Amino acid sequence: MKPIDPAQLIENLNWRYATKTFDPTRKIASGVWSALEQAAVLAPSSYGLQPWRFVVVENAEKRAALKAVSWNQSQITDASHLVVFCRKLEVTAADVDAYLEETSKIRNVPVSAMAGYRGMMVGSISNPGSLGGGSMDVWTSRQVYIALGFFLSACANLGVDACPMEGIDAGKYDEILGLRAEGYAATVVAAAGYRSASDPTAAMKKVRFPVERVVKHV
Ligand SMILES: Cc1cc2nc3c(=O)[nH]c(=O)nc-3n(C[C@H](O)[C@H](O)[C@H](O)COP(=O)(O)O)c2cc1C
Repeated sequence: MKPIDPAQLIENLNWRYATKTFDPTRKIASGVWSALEQAAVLAPSSYGLQPWRFVVVENAEKRAALKAVSWNQSQITDASHLVVFCRKLEVTAADVDAYLEETSKIRNVPVSAMAGYRGMMVGSISNPGSLGGGSMDVWTSRQVYIALGFFLSACANLGVDACPMEGIDAGKYDEILGLRAEGYAATVVAAAGYRSASDPTAAMKKVRFPVERVVKHV
């Protein structure tokens, strides 16, 4: 692992902004896109259960339909790529077992050796009130936002512009993409690509409270 220079990291994060106008002619190269998909997949999640799906919408008609239910925001159709970050509607014992089987294969340990861990996870998900945020929906949404953050940060580090988007009718997204039938629900969206030379927001200074106001050392 080669750490990047701290000053470089801050420069990259200052370079990024929520892109309002994308250049519709510029596409993200497949190798770069593939790294961005992996960055989202590499996000941490509670217990490692990964209660999410990332739907990359390539179909132009579907993107036009999604724009109509996203306050007509141009990023939905003009960005090179559009990802809908979805939460899993229910996390069950079957999901825990799928995760433990994967762990068993990857780490070469028998599933039986993880029986205690399985019991703890199943106990937790069977009592959604005990989960962070107090419900399955809030808990899975929280995980999805971590993946969004990973994705946005990776975009900045690869020189790709992006816009996180909550200005969407999530229920309509579910319908257009047939998400609920597959056990998922749209939670938040990211458009990614390259800023248009005519996007006036690109030149605006970043507005953040000073570090001393936000970070407390105790
Ligand atoms: C969860 C989330 C949802 C957002 N939804 C939208 C959106 O629908 N449309 C948009 O243009 N910007 C959206 N934004 C961008 C924010 O307005 C922007 O990140 C914020 O003003 C800070 O500016 P910066 O990201 O350019 O530094 C969203 C940001 C976040 C984190």
